[in-house]
Amino acid sequence: MIKRRPELANWQSIPYVTAKNKFKHMKKKYLVFLSLLSLVLFSCNNKKLTEVVEVPLPSKEDKMIIGNPEDVKADDGTFKMVALPYSYEALAPNIDALTMELHYSKHYLTYTNNLNKVIAGTELDQLPIEEVLKKLDVSNADLRNNAGGFYNHSLFWDSMAPKAGGQPKDTLALAINRDFGSFANFKSQFEAAAEKRFGSGWAWLITDKAGKLQITDSANQDNPLMSNAEIKGTPILGLDVWEHAYYLNYQYKRRKYIDAFFNVINWKKINERYEEAMNAK
Ligand SMILES: [Fe+2]
Repeated sequence: MIKRRPELANWQSIPYVTAKNKFKHMKKKYLVFLSLLSLVLFSCNNKKLTEVVEVPLPSKEDKMIIGNPEDVKADDGTFKMVALPYSYEALAPNIDALTMELHYSKHYLTYTNNLNKVIAGTELDQLPIEEVLKKLDVSNADLRNNAGGFYNHSLFWDSMAPKAGGQPKDTLALAINRDFGSFANFKSQFEAAAEKRFGSGWAWLITDKAGKLQITDSANQDNPLMSNAEIKGTPILGLDVWEHAYYLNYQYKRRKYIDAFFNVINWKKINERYEEAMNAK
């Protein structure tokens, strides 16, 4: 049985003529209502379309533009920036272009300019940077941070290369096997040092006084050449674990950044540094 809606039930109790007139009246009202509704909807829809069209397109300034490392120029001074031997995009996806650009054109540039300012006119001004690091007074925070920042980053750039990674094949491969047992052992120890370094700092592969390879780490922009280093030696590979080196792409996942670094290590260059360090002993 179909139940009648209560409002319709009331209708049926009204005399026929009145009900017919009322129906006509309602129909008119309904048509007027529909017309108004269409007008409002059309108007809203029209407004919506207009608004979409009126949203300004991103200006040139809003778009991300990756620059050219060759355009980065430090102020005049004793120490010159090392040229980045590849484009900012070249290490992606392991190290993204924006991180590389900010790291090189802002952080490294700043360390270089600050070092030149702070060292100008001092007795260390004309020494090679390695000698500056060995001789500087570690209580001089300005010199220590900026000389360290300059040297560490200068070493870092060509420790990486596009289409690199894998394992060393030359003299260094033999030395790694000799001092760590295997490349896998070396890798896990180096990764652990980079991961456990609390806050900002660096993980290092160095050759010590006896020519042995060792892994160590340092805080901030310190390094194993400085007089305060726990384990002193000549750095042949350094990994920057400051957040500015990975946070844009990896956020808090430092371990993922460390793994990615191993995909771009320029072992040919690291081997050259190792042989150079051995020849200097
Ligand atoms: Fe850095």
